[in-house]
Amino acid sequence: MGQRYEAFHRRSIEDREGFWAEQAQLIDWHEPFTQVLDYSRPPFARWFVGGRTNLCHNAIDRHLAERAGQPALIHVSTETNEETVYSFAELHRETMTMAAILAGQGVERGDRVLIYMPMIPQAVFAMLACARIGAIHSVVFGGFASNSLAARIDDATPKVVVSADAGSRAGKAIAYKPLLDEAIRIARHKPASVVLVDRGLAPMERVAGRDLDYAELRKAHAEAEVPVTWLESNEISYTLYTSGTTGTPKGVQRDVGGYAVALAASMRHIYCGKAGETYFCTSDIGWVVGHSYIVYGPLIAGMATILYEGTPIRPDAGILWQLVEKYRVSLMFSAPTAIRVLKKQDPALLTKYDTSSLRTLFLAGEPLDEPTARWISEGLGRPIIDNYWQTETGWPILALANGVERMTAKFGSPGVPMYGYDLHLLHEQTGAELGVNEKGVVAIFPPLPPGCMQTVWGDDERFVETYFTTIPGQAAYSTFDWGIRDEDGYYFILGRTDDVINVAGHRLGTREIEESLSHHAALAECAVIGMADAIKGQVAVAFAVLKDASAAAQPEAALRLEKEMLAIVDRQLGAVARPSRVYFVMALPKTRSGKVLRRAIQAVCEQRDPGDLTTIEDPNALQQVRDAVGSPHG
Ligand code: PRX
Repeated sequence: MGQRYEAFHRRSIEDREGFWAEQAQLIDWHEPFTQVLDYSRPPFARWFVGGRTNLCHNAIDRHLAERAGQPALIHVSTETNEETVYSFAELHRETMTMAAILAGQGVERGDRVLIYMPMIPQAVFAMLACARIGAIHSVVFGGFASNSLAARIDDATPKVVVSADAGSRAGKAIAYKPLLDEAIRIARHKPASVVLVDRGLAPMERVAGRDLDYAELRKAHAEAEVPVTWLESNEISYTLYTSGTTGTPKGVQRDVGGYAVALAASMRHIYCGKAGETYFCTSDIGWVVGHSYIVYGPLIAGMATILYEGTPIRPDAGILWQLVEKYRVSLMFSAPTAIRVLKKQDPALLTKYDTSSLRTLFLAGEPLDEPTARWISEGLGRPIIDNYWQTETGWPILALANGVERMTAKFGSPGVPMYGYDLHLLHEQTGAELGVNEKGVVAIFPPLPPGCMQTVWGDDERFVETYFTTIPGQAAYSTFDWGIRDEDGYYFILGRTDDVINVAGHRLGTREIEESLSHHAALAECAVIGMADAIKGQVAVAFAVLKDASAAAQPEAALRLEKEMLAIVDRQLGAVARPSRVYFVMALPKTRSGKVLRRAIQAVCEQRDPGDLTTIEDPNALQQVRDAVGSPHG
């Protein structure tokens, strides 16, 4: 670790209040805070107590004096062939209009608004509009289907839903409205109104008295002046659902002031973005990366941000670099999967466009393998910075803070602990602190720094239980990731300790997929695991035990059952969660106490040593898994 950065990091831990009080100057406060940190009720941390601010003000209004006419939001859709640039003034206008629309539907400070949207500008207007009036947004990834959506509607109990007729992927419209209608039908909670953007991609049936047309409302509120609502720093900005070990997703809840400060600081110290430049993050607004680094982070920093609807290979695999050239992109943020997809395409496309404006490519969300990192770094002739974090933290835990001190990246490592994070590697069973090159659970000693989750929405107990009680003897926050640290202080992430899998950078809980599969009448039980995949990092694979084993005896019958099961997952959770295969076995490998040995199944699938099997009840069950994966159709 560089000396300067080491001192910076040390101060952030030893003098938390002094450190963060300084960082807090990076944003506008309507009223100053009276206390930097209130940690009187561990592990709950309250940052910048008494301070009043607003995320929308910091993202838009405060830039108006200097850069009203400069680009703020650049929307590019290679799906519908649209490109629209909104200046800060225009984004301000559209956001106030959306805020007036929401307020007109009775949305008040603290009310929830659920946003189920494709990558269109109105999604960003809706997020910023909520932030403006102090409503809590809950964005649900457009790739999720009815049951996933219904579970989130019931948990968030939104007054209003903002949605659209359809998204589009690889040129094919994907209707959202029927999924939304079905979700509201299943959900116990019924939103009072649904604001719908009609893109003209899919026919929509309107529910009288509930469904409203955005275009009409926009006209009605075109001139609306909606002032910013100043919020106490610890009021809630948003909830974002994420998967864990159980079948019910957790609403990760974030504050206002801490998040704004954390993002502003990360834009300066980690991403090194300057006002007036352009940031291009290829994630989706449905994920935390989209929240932090498509919407809030770049805008808070006064940068233009690109909202991209499309894939990295349409119309051809040069599209990302073409956009870098066209919009003079300075910083890019993507996921390793996208780069692995490009790797299979013509490498000449990497140098076809003038990408000289690009300083750094950041990658996050899943492990970045060395060959991919080298390929893209050499192909572009630009540094690649891997960074590691979670929905829960909102901004990087591990990265390089090149804005503080230039540090060399090590292939395979997302870098060193970021300022504010008191990071430790702990023994899973004893909680003992581990040394150099010893594998352990990556843990954060609380308090968590600004920007991290405040709690699980509506369930403080679950927050404490889930995150702070799993490592024996330590009241530490578990990331549920394995890691090791080398002698230079660089960390390496070695996969999850729990049943969370990561498919193409999408975080999924295997429990949810298992629950969905079990809706098939023929199924007795099943286990879903994540199996290594060359492109997607991992894919979900299911092992199913049928009530009547002979039902899958014939290959055609097995194929039909597999199709039916996958269709259920598609319908309930969305294609993003669909296992790549369902294998039929007679029994699942379990311990004598009945716990499914997921790690052993995964090891066998990846042709690794399954490790200690002394507790296995029936070794034959593991052999069946081995045979099933090895056979052309299990
Ligand atoms: O397992 C880690 C993996 O993704 C998880 C968090 O996913 P999510 O909540 O969707 O947030 C993504 C924010 C970037 C982590 O627990 N992960 C994330 N980044 C990396 C990573 N694994 C290895 N290397 C990374 N850079």
